Amino acid sequence: MATPRLSNDRWVAEQYKTPRNLNARIQLHKRFSTNPYAWLHWVFDHLRLAPGMRVLEIGGGPGGLWQENRHRLSPQIEIFFTDQSTGMIAQALSLVGDLRQFAFAAADAQALPFAGASFDVVIANHMLYHVPDRKRALAEIRRVLKPTGNFFAATNDHTHMQELRQLAESFLPVPSHLVAPQETSPTERFPFDVATQELSQYFGQLQLHLYHNALVVTDADALADYMLSGITAPLPEEVEAGFRHRLSERIRADGAITVTSASGLFEAATAE
Ligand SMILES: C[S@@+](CC[C@H](N)C(=O)[O-])C[C@H]1O[C@@H](n2cnc3c(N)ncnc32)[C@H](O)[C@@H]1O
Repeated sequence: MATPRLSNDRWVAEQYKTPRNLNARIQLHKRFSTNPYAWLHWVFDHLRLAPGMRVLEIGGGPGGLWQENRHRLSPQIEIFFTDQSTGMIAQALSLVGDLRQFAFAAADAQALPFAGASFDVVIANHMLYHVPDRKRALAEIRRVLKPTGNFFAATNDHTHMQELRQLAESFLPVPSHLVAPQETSPTERFPFDVATQELSQYFGQLQLHLYHNALVVTDADALADYMLSGITAPLPEEVEAGFRHRLSERIRADGAITVTSASGLFEAATAE
């Protein structure tokens, strides 16, 4: 009998217990992106942080945004770093816990443990598509944001990494519930059109900044690690070895596998 797909909540809890899976995905982007200006530097530029600001990151994962930009951070900015996974908080602490302006807390985006109107900037980088009740999370974000504050939400559009679905179908001879173990894929949950519609219910001003990029991948194992990072149960050894072999044959034949990357950053403000 086929194993049922995991509920989204269980998949998220398993997937982000530690930073391991996410790191495989971050590495692929770091090594093979065609845009020479790194995503996390680009996101940081848009935040326009200034001394005296109070900043909240929700679902901050391993803390890459701050680690990658630590030398650009004024010590006069207070940063509250949160994630629902204590494994992620531990990793973030190990990366930027030495900076005294940071406070760390495990927190669910749907019930933020902060007073109303307490932040100048709130950041949700590639995480809202995982939140079960996004309306509750957006209401919480709006509540904790000062009336003059800005909210930044990064997400991916429909076409993001679309070639990988096709590669999995052609090269992975296993049932689809193993390849895509969630009920619905994150990309289908919060693409640009859905994000525009949902965010505009909570924020009067909305702007989408596009990050222009593609991945030209020349390392089959790095691509396999990325694709297998979403699978909760390990594949049989011979299936995985065959998959890696087919990817490397494709790269040898074509020189590289090119993958669409379609990420963007929404900037939202409450003011009309
Ligand atoms: C794709 S990762 C992104 C991490 C980080 N923002 C980045 O871009 O590297 C999603 C993160 O959201 C966290 N997360 C998922 N659902 C959450 C929720 N309801 N509340 C808080 N964090 C959540 C996960 O634990 C995970 O660390």
